[in-house]
Amino acid sequence: MAGKISPSMMCVDFRRLEESVRAMEQAGVEYLHFDIMDGHFVPNFTLGPDFISCVREMTNIPFDYHLMVERPELLLSVFDIRKGDIVTVHQEASIHLQRTLQQIRDMGARPSVALNPATPVYALDEVMDDLELVLIMTVNPGFAGQKLVPSTIRKIAGLKERLRAGGHSHVEIEVDGNVSWDNAAKMRHAGADIFVAGTSSVFRKDEDIQALLAKFRSCIA
Ligand code: DX5
Ligand code: ZN
Repeated sequence: MAGKISPSMMCVDFRRLEESVRAMEQAGVEYLHFDIMDGHFVPNFTLGPDFISCVREMTNIPFDYHLMVERPELLLSVFDIRKGDIVTVHQEASIHLQRTLQQIRDMGARPSVALNPATPVYALDEVMDDLELVLIMTVNPGFAGQKLVPSTIRKIAGLKERLRAGGHSHVEIEVDGNVSWDNAAKMRHAGADIFVAGTSSVFRKDEDIQALLAKFRSCIA
């Protein structure tokens, strides 16, 4: 299956929000990625429920919620989560992870777990039946515009093999952080399925998002 694109909404020029959403629709992106940061789990604050609801009124593209918050299970109800959306929580942030994933599934969304660069893939062995995606953080989460942690490319390939060997090949692998043109191709080769496109590729000042998204698609074909 061809790679899917999930543009990072924290990287959009907010002055041109609606225009940017239209360009992403035109480019046929599969998801919109929302980075939600609480100032505790990561040292930054970003998008909240009001902003996300505003985008919801603009488009029917499925949403990809990336919750970089402590105790994400307590915040799920503040978001307008719809059937088919991806909801990602961090393995490092949810104590009763299996229950949290069940909660997400009960909302009709696609349960997903993110792993920081330092967290090994085997940390998910016991919840493999409860998730539909794994998000491999290819930078330490918190900020756009960081440099790739090189070992994460190997980690993607390791996860792919582990999914295959364990009979979980249907689980999709998403990658997030410094997904540049070059890195996107390497991540694709290692087995990634969904790519978060941010400042490293499609969100560049005064450049045409639609053309950059088309170029991005060719890197992950
Ligand atoms: C990192 C964020 C990413 C980031 C990706 O914490 O989750 O979504 O915006 O964009 P770049 O390409 O700037 O790394
Ligand atoms: Zn993200």
